[in-house]
Amino acid sequence: MALIGVFDSGVGGLSILDEALHQLPEHDYIYLADSANAPYGEKSSTWIAARSLALCQHLAQEGCDAIVVACNTATAEAIKDIRLQLEIPIIGVEPGIKPAAMQSQNGIVGVLATEATLHSDKFNALLATLPENCQFIKQAGAGLVPLIEAGKADSEETLELLAKHLEPIQDAGADTLVLGCTHYPFLRKAIRKLLGDSITLIDTSEAVVRQLKHQLEDRTAQNSEGICGSILFISSKDEDTLLRMAQELMSSDLSVHTVLAKHLGELQ
Ligand code: DGL
Repeated sequence: MALIGVFDSGVGGLSILDEALHQLPEHDYIYLADSANAPYGEKSSTWIAARSLALCQHLAQEGCDAIVVACNTATAEAIKDIRLQLEIPIIGVEPGIKPAAMQSQNGIVGVLATEATLHSDKFNALLATLPENCQFIKQAGAGLVPLIEAGKADSEETLELLAKHLEPIQDAGADTLVLGCTHYPFLRKAIRKLLGDSITLIDTSEAVVRQLKHQLEDRTAQNSEGICGSILFISSKDEDTLLRMAQELMSSDLSVHTVLAKHLGELQ
């Protein structure tokens, strides 16, 4: 069995943790939310890279056998450096523009992500590998992360802001929308309300957890059925709020796990 670190600027990575708990419930997890500093998406590349590395180093010191950087923004700005500095498997997330291009029928794909992700070299390098006959409508979701962090994913305020951000994507006639930030799967209901059921939503959490599973192959016990590991929630802001939001936002049943919460202390 392994100890897996899952890190995000806030509660967004819970969408990945949720999937991990469905696919790999037998492992132990540390979920680290840097909510005191969210949103990352509007901060400088240098800041995001340094902070993400420091937090992953912290997870490695806590004994993690693998880390999921459950944040598109941190992956885009920091994963190269994190992989250079740490010797454990590091799994990142990136906007699913490749599967979106393959699934789109009309070749028009909306990409909703943070400003930092859309401007990053990593994202633009990925974009350059895709066929030119697919049109990508890129939209920064400014202001959405703070609303989700405040527990307002289903509020009228969020719906209004989201409608503004989705307008260019809707106007272009996109039939596929990439949820390019791990916070955005929590807007699924609001997105469906605005865009209807026919648009295909691309969320890469299942693929990310498959990757994690692959990296952990030799650490997964043969007879793990029925075993549920522990989850330690760590927040740089308020661990009780993090725990409450984890219960509200995730579909996993946390009562079958041993759950603890603590505040992130000073980083060494
Ligand atoms: N959840 C993050 C992402 O996937 C970051 C959001 C933010 O802090 O701006 O990009």
